[in-house]
Amino acid sequence: GRGLPRGTIATLDWTGLRETVAQCRACTLCESRKHTVFGVGHERAHWMIVGEAPGEQEDEQGEPFVGAAGKLLDSMLRSIGLSRDEGPPERQVYIANTLKCRPPRNRNPDPAELAQCEPYLQRQIELIQPRVIIAMGRFAVQQLLQSQEAIGRLRGRVHRYQGVPLIVTYHPAYLLRNLPEKAKSWEDLCLALSTVETAA
Ligand code: URA
Repeated sequence: GRGLPRGTIATLDWTGLRETVAQCRACTLCESRKHTVFGVGHERAHWMIVGEAPGEQEDEQGEPFVGAAGKLLDSMLRSIGLSRDEGPPERQVYIANTLKCRPPRNRNPDPAELAQCEPYLQRQIELIQPRVIIAMGRFAVQQLLQSQEAIGRLRGRVHRYQGVPLIVTYHPAYLLRNLPEKAKSWEDLCLALSTVETAA
């Protein structure tokens, strides 16, 4: 492809990784994107959230979860004392997506795109070394757990990604369409909180 080899990506520091993503032309999403969306948050945040892919607003602004789903996510995080941009690392969340570029008209990511983009997310996780990862929605779950199971069957227990505790929950865009499910996502955040506190 037109990207760096996996082995090279795995050696990049934050600056190198950010620049590589900004210039990535490994799949065709580079042709329609306005901005790459790398990720946001403290580089040693204890919490990490992995979403799906940038939408229209994220593509405009170059930042993850800034649209309607992001507003819901931020308010859920705030309600348990977490933030994407302030506070000590224990209270900060690094937010990234499985895909760094917006799929046209927000269509689903395709398997080749997910495979091309995976080393970037992997390297972000290695650099951050979060205490807990929250995978939101089926594409984040497929990427990190290599599982095709439904969210409803995977949530409610602690999984692992390369040794890091991983909690599965619904995507906030899904919650906006299915408000009663918010209670379950709330439980999932509480499970993540107790996982972090038990490990500390
Ligand atoms: N949905 C996602 O999964 N990620 C974003 O950044 C925005 C919406």
